[in-house]
Amino acid sequence: MHQTLLLLPGDGIGPEVTAEARRVAEVVAPDLKMEEGLVGGASIDAHGDPLTEETLERARQANAVLLGAVGGPKWVGSARDKRPEAGLLALRKGLDVFANLRPAFCFPALVEASSLKHDVVAGLDLMIVRELTGGVYFGQPRGIDETSGIRRGYDTSVYTHPEIERVAHVAFEIARGRQGRVCSVEKSNVMESGLFWRQEVTLAHAEMGAGVDLSHMYADACAMELVRAPKQFDVILAGNLFGDILSDEAAMLTGSIGMLPSASLGAPGTPGLYEPVHGSAPDIAGQGVANPCAAILSLEMALRWSLGREKAADMLFAAVGKALDQGARTKDLGGSLSTSEMADAIIAAL
Ligand code: NAD
Ligand code: IPM
Ligand code: MN
Repeated sequence: MHQTLLLLPGDGIGPEVTAEARRVAEVVAPDLKMEEGLVGGASIDAHGDPLTEETLERARQANAVLLGAVGGPKWVGSARDKRPEAGLLALRKGLDVFANLRPAFCFPALVEASSLKHDVVAGLDLMIVRELTGGVYFGQPRGIDETSGIRRGYDTSVYTHPEIERVAHVAFEIARGRQGRVCSVEKSNVMESGLFWRQEVTLAHAEMGAGVDLSHMYADACAMELVRAPKQFDVILAGNLFGDILSDEAAMLTGSIGMLPSASLGAPGTPGLYEPVHGSAPDIAGQGVANPCAAILSLEMALRWSLGREKAADMLFAAVGKALDQGARTKDLGGSLSTSEMADAIIAAL
């Protein structure tokens, strides 16, 4: 039985970077069966819906899903459920991929590309575990309406015991394969859902955290510490919103948001969703200059976490490092290679 990778290129630079990840996959995993589908604005334009039931079903049947990016100015004014981002959220929810792993790894060759000082980022290797299917992203009620004569907009930040417990377990498990340290992040000083998060993570740690050193930090302090001394962190565990923000910040430590992949995992045996941390980058879409590394490293994570191809993943990771060592750079990294030339350099290094 062939393994299947479903590619969902999406919008903006999404198709540009996934096309390169596909070329790389053909080299590192030639027997992998690849299929393509529509998501986001591309699906809205074709079907009037950012994620069709058929695409979700194909995702469920695949061994892994590699998504480019969704969104763009064209769809900004549409109703919320008819926006590209709603398709991505529905895909995450539909696959129940509750644990979003966002590594921030500074390749030696890119130390100088970071906006921070050499010593602050050299050797940086941290992992953000972001809860992905709950919290304020999905909490009810939410809306924009007018009650008692005053217009208001509101969301609900809510987490349940099982939601926190399962993602905390993933963070502990990942920490055990690294330096064994988890820093859990919330705003328990001002939010009830934050206080509950801290209590539940502490409880989960008592039950399942053997061998893991757990600490807690407020999200604002964590944002500050990430740029002051990021190497103090091993695994950062955060809810959906804080994890989103902190992972963009961590991305810049590594030189460019164009470098950072992610893996979103659900229950064992279910397909993982792999996507760059970056978005559709409308400002550079169509120019062939986007950095494909985040998409290619997302493929690397798919090989490792969903497809059981650790050797191919190791080879690919090493090839990205080697290409960078040899000076391969897209514009965001201060170079001049096009998207496909960057992928060529990685393929040559394989
Ligand atoms: P963005 O990540 O798309 O772009 C931020 C900046 O980073 C831009 O200047 C862009 O040119 C640059 N950039 C991003 N990826 C790059 C790459 N691979 N190579 C070189 N430069 C890169 O974030 P944004 O501008 O806030 O959002 C644009 C759209 O993307 C919005 O519609 C947003 O909702 C969506 N978005 C989607 C995802 C996703 O699909 N996972 C993630 C974030 C944002
Ligand atoms: C991300 C993005 C998404 C998020 C948006 C596009 C829905 O910012 O993947 O980081 O907020 O989760
Ligand atoms: Mn984000």
